[in-house]
Amino acid sequence: MQQRMLEQMPERVLGADFPVSAIGLGCMGMSEFYGPRDDAESMAVLRRAVDLGIDFFDTADMYGPHHNEELIGRFLKDSGARVKIATKFGIVRKPGEYARSIDNSADYMRWACEGSLKRLGVERIDLYYVHRIERERPIEETMQGLAALKQEGKIAHIGLCEVSAETLRRAHAVHPVTAVQTEYSLWTRDVEAEILPACRELGIGFVAYSPLGRGFLTGRFQAGASFEDGDFRASLPRFSPDNAATNGALVEVVRGIADARGCTPAQVALAWLLAKGNDIVPIPGTKRIKYLEENAAAAGIRLSDEERTTLEHAIAGLAVAGERYTAEGMKGVNA
Ligand SMILES: NC(=O)c1ccc[n+]([C@@H]2O[C@H](COP(=O)([O-])OP(=O)(O)OC[C@H]3O[C@@H](n4cnc5c(N)ncnc54)[C@H](OP(=O)(O)O)[C@@H]3O)[C@@H](O)[C@H]2O)c1
Repeated sequence: MQQRMLEQMPERVLGADFPVSAIGLGCMGMSEFYGPRDDAESMAVLRRAVDLGIDFFDTADMYGPHHNEELIGRFLKDSGARVKIATKFGIVRKPGEYARSIDNSADYMRWACEGSLKRLGVERIDLYYVHRIERERPIEETMQGLAALKQEGKIAHIGLCEVSAETLRRAHAVHPVTAVQTEYSLWTRDVEAEILPACRELGIGFVAYSPLGRGFLTGRFQAGASFEDGDFRASLPRFSPDNAATNGALVEVVRGIADARGCTPAQVALAWLLAKGNDIVPIPGTKRIKYLEENAAAAGIRLSDEERTTLEHAIAGLAVAGERYTAEGMKGVNA
């Protein structure tokens, strides 16, 4: 069950002057975290995304590490497609290891940026994010390094992931920030308290990552779901059998709205985010054409006030069980 294909993908503007498709494409899962990868299928997904009018691809140097940027670089070279690329630096990982550290220093940033430019095969990165903020380093220093890269034409826009409202204000005072990227979905709404209001006050766009709750909100991972080897979700508290059983109630609410409307739970989850404001751009991730098409079509779904009220009321009474990251992962958020 799925709404018709959209005739034209709508556009949204991040910050003062960065127009992108209203729905972007998260490319992380094409390399790791969510089960095995298949480059041929991923290339087909990237091609189909362009056909559907999606012109905003999200990657990071640490996805793979490096495999994801290399894949996108190959796609850009082979297809000649003109797509806006957002990538990230700041999480330092060795290939084959999950252990990580954070480095936001100007030297590291410059080295990382040169590597990303080379792998992507572009002269300029459209949106360059700090992937995680190094708490010990003044954000002003990091922003000065990013401003220098922008001045040199290596990056066009600056973004920050998982930043606190206070750090965001300090960063924006040094150089305008175009977008904040943080987890935001029906089961992760922390940003509504301080971060989204700060973005709105400062005119900064908001990119919602894991908008489908890493797949949970689509109904694919109810209690008892097993993951393939190496699937990172097996380590996440919200996906533990007990917590997933509790959190299934939220999926049932979403499914109820979807069934009444004749669309899918994934589309309701995306339409809900899109209705939260024109400054929000969800970047659902997939490595399958079927899901990509379904997600793109969500840009044409407008939830009625009644549907939104029903959804909000129903979920207000449901507590989400489990943190969104492990204890170690939670140390990196809201920095
Ligand atoms: N800044 C950060 O720290 C950060 C952190 C996490 C993610 N991100 C970015 O955000 C992007 C999106 O987040 P995400 O990939 O973590 O989570 P997500 O978009 O919430 O969910 C992705 C999962 O949902 C599944 N899926 C997608 N569409 C579906 C549909 N219509 N029906 C059923 N299942 C569907 C995918 O399946 P398949 O894998 O089978 O296609 C995948 O397992 C990432 O790709 C990445 O670029 C950024």
